[in-house]
Amino acid sequence: MQPRFHQKVAVVIGGNSGIGLASARAFALEGARVVVTGRDRATLARAAASLGEGALAVPCDVTRLGEIDALMGEIRKQHGRIDVLFVNAGVGAFIPVEAVTEADWDRLMAVNLKGVFFTVQKALPLMSSGAAIVLNASIGARKGIPTGSVYAASKAGVRALGRNFAAELVGRGIRVNVVSPGPVETPIIGRTAGLTPEAIPRLREQMVANTPMRRMGEPAEVARAARFLASEEASFVTGVDLLVDGGAASF
Ligand SMILES: NC(=O)c1ccc[n+]([C@@H]2O[C@H](COP(=O)([O-])OP(=O)(O)OC[C@H]3O[C@@H](n4cnc5c(N)ncnc54)[C@H](OP(=O)(O)O)[C@@H]3O)[C@@H](O)[C@H]2O)c1
Repeated sequence: MQPRFHQKVAVVIGGNSGIGLASARAFALEGARVVVTGRDRATLARAAASLGEGALAVPCDVTRLGEIDALMGEIRKQHGRIDVLFVNAGVGAFIPVEAVTEADWDRLMAVNLKGVFFTVQKALPLMSSGAAIVLNASIGARKGIPTGSVYAASKAGVRALGRNFAAELVGRGIRVNVVSPGPVETPIIGRTAGLTPEAIPRLREQMVANTPMRRMGEPAEVARAARFLASEEASFVTGVDLLVDGGAASF
């Protein structure tokens, strides 16, 4: 039997770290020809090497529309199409309302929301009936978390994009779904705006305490959910938000 993604072109935006890298591995394991993106060239090169022959790594900052155009041009040249698009790149912030600057707001929205919108827009010419898009949001979109307002707003926007893209693309045979992780152990925690290194262990404890399964998730657990949504197994699934959160947003 052929693997589920045999010969499929799977593009993972933000595929050089954390959930994105685990997802690229998950797609590659099932036969996909994987394209990973991100800004950091060193981690991109390592990711491509670890993903095996045929994996393509393309530097792309999603806040720069010209770089998204160049990425899509490269994919067109190498593969001619996209079967699976996992729009996963994102950045975090835990900043009290009074301390949020315009620059904080703009940076978060530029990566987490504008970047998602224009990545999908610019990928569409390469996608046709049978293709699938998965967006990475967060349970932050549906919870009230002190200092989480800007991040939550950006991710609520991603959830809304998922629903609206799904409605607009259903007639073209393209499914669009959202995956919403709870707390997952990845490098994001060390890169989150507003978090000092000393605050990280306490935050981790709080996140575990607020999760009914009493642990952080693993990147591979989100990757498997994203892969399911992108696969033929989910052929009648579009517009949903699949929580992968150990119960954190539900009870
Ligand atoms: N970990 C969690 O607890 C958690 C929970 C809910 C949702 N999420 C979401 O899951 C997604 C992946 O996060 P992660 O936890 O795996 O964190 P991560 O390891 O920090 O990965 C973030 C990815 O986004 C890329 N990225 C960041 N800014 C970018 C930009 N301007 N242009 C292009 N790529 C950019 C990074 O690559 P470069 O740095 O090389 O650009 C990296 O590949 C994010 O959308 C995040 O909001 C995570």
